[in-house]
Amino acid sequence: EDLPSLAGTMGDTNLGVAIDSRETTGSASELLLKHFTQITPENHMKPEAWYDANRDFAPHADAVALLDYAQENDLDLYGHVLVWHSQTPEWFFQDASGSPLGTDEASKQVLRDRMKTHIDAVADWIASEYGAFGSETNPLTAFDVVNEVVADGAENADGLRRSEWFRILGEEFIDLAFEYAEEAFNVRNADAGVERPVKLFINDYNTEQDGKQDRYAALVERLIARGVPLDGVGHQFHVSLALPVSALDGALDRFAGYGLEQAVTEFDVTTGTPVTEAKLIDQGYYFRDAFAAFREHELFSVTVWGLTDGRSWRVDSGAPLLFDDSFQAKPAYFGAAGGE
Ligand code: XIL
Repeated sequence: EDLPSLAGTMGDTNLGVAIDSRETTGSASELLLKHFTQITPENHMKPEAWYDANRDFAPHADAVALLDYAQENDLDLYGHVLVWHSQTPEWFFQDASGSPLGTDEASKQVLRDRMKTHIDAVADWIASEYGAFGSETNPLTAFDVVNEVVADGAENADGLRRSEWFRILGEEFIDLAFEYAEEAFNVRNADAGVERPVKLFINDYNTEQDGKQDRYAALVERLIARGVPLDGVGHQFHVSLALPVSALDGALDRFAGYGLEQAVTEFDVTTGTPVTEAKLIDQGYYFRDAFAAFREHELFSVTVWGLTDGRSWRVDSGAPLLFDDSFQAKPAYFGAAGGE
């Protein structure tokens, strides 16, 4: 098919796609290279992905494949994720005997050290293999430093998720994650003369919904007030056709005044099931309107959470992406590209 590159319609905003190593070859890769300028590792850079069964830091061939692919094809790589409550080894939160860490100062220090050791290991290894951040050979341009730290409900005054990170360290863990990341990515391993080459993002879901959005904004304001080295606000935007596009626009408006970058980090739009021709056409209009809103906000990047429907984590809720399993453009593609 001779379709225009979707990335070509995005101005200065990178168009990203979440992939794993399977998409770095064959027809998937061809499609990707035509339409996208950035990749996010869907799973290969989550905390658990970096460790072997002996708890040793052991970068996997899959992470290498994505970095090599980005480097060889001149794609930016948006890292995902340094500190999260999910897909993280349980031993992060345990003492030497396998019991949960307590909240005494010694236990807190164990977890602080573990976080720092983890972030240092990721940054130092990538820089040792791909060159300093900001140099020609290193594709990494951003990282989700903390993911999903905001609570879903309003029950806590601080608005934060009761994760193991929070239970042991309290809100301090968020500041520390950014401070450690800043040192490891933007100071120690930064190319001389390039200022802060890796943009440090906070990321969350349901930021288009009122209560969650308030809690997210309140946290961002606290981080700014404390001088935390935060570059950008990420909006996952895992939505469905039932959610008005105006809510996405509203979320981007809400965070536009902070002087930070913004990114749409994990966009997908489920149709509901059964998937019908009519719903796929509605989805085309949805992508048209959503991408029109995204273009107005001069975003750092817009990332769709998967290349083809069958590979989506939400496929059971109905065909959420731009391309079908035969690598054909859906109405969603034509809508995103600005067509009717
Ligand atoms: C999902 C992946 O897509 C799945 O393959 C995996 O099994 C679970 O995680 N928010 C995030 C992403 O930040 O990391 C999640 O990705 C989707 C929700």
